[in-house]
Amino acid sequence: MSGTFITFEGPDGAGKTSVLRAIVERLAPLLGDKLVLTREPGGKDSQVAEAIRDVVLDPNLPSMDAWTEALLYAASRRQHLVDTVLPALAADKVVVSDRYVDSSIAYQGGGRRLGIEAVTEINQFATKGIMPTATIYLDIRPEVGLQRIQENRQDEINRLDVEKLSFHQRVTDAYHQLATQYPERFLIINAEQDLADVITDTWTALMPILGIHD
Ligand SMILES: Nc1ncnc2c1ncn2[C@@H]1O[C@H](COP(=O)(O)OP(=O)(O)OP(=O)(O)O)[C@@H](O)[C@H]1O
Ligand SMILES: [Mg+2]
Repeated sequence: MSGTFITFEGPDGAGKTSVLRAIVERLAPLLGDKLVLTREPGGKDSQVAEAIRDVVLDPNLPSMDAWTEALLYAASRRQHLVDTVLPALAADKVVVSDRYVDSSIAYQGGGRRLGIEAVTEINQFATKGIMPTATIYLDIRPEVGLQRIQENRQDEINRLDVEKLSFHQRVTDAYHQLATQYPERFLIINAEQDLADVITDTWTALMPILGIHD
């Protein structure tokens, strides 16, 4: 596989979507159609993965079993890989995804207490071990991220956002465990800074991986 696969990870409200949007704006003129922007659950050009997204994030389905949730995320991820990520990487493109497998390990493994190992195993089955070249980890205390969401995004609160703080603390702890386990893949950015500084640090971290000099 020849392309580059970059993922953005971090707790709710860390700024993944905001930072990714700014990075993509800067990358687009440099990479043109070599750049593919996508997100999970669901994903660009993946009808099946998007249909699973609608189920897994539906706030009207509170009875969903935690293992069902983990399997649906993994199934959606599988389809997104097949439809979007793998063809782009085979064509030597740069794929940037808002969340990927680390999110499942953090939210279902840590947050929902299914265990990091079990959720890693489900995802190994789904992804055949396809892992990102690099992962931008937006590091933030969960209460700071949740505060941002409460202040700015009242309209978009989904099923996972409404979980209580202890859940989000377990998510963050699991992310930190992954960052320790994979120090070369995880590029840790201080996401409690002003957005402009978070964007600058992210750009600086990504440049060598993308072979860009500016
Ligand atoms: N560095 C920052 N300082 C202050 N506010 C920020 C910062 N980064 C993002 N925000 C604001 O915080 C809110 C959450 O940001 P954003 O949606 O990008 O986070 P996210 O990590 O994508 O969250 P989610 O996991 O819920 O998708 C937005 O309203 C955004 O404008
Ligand atoms: Mg987001």
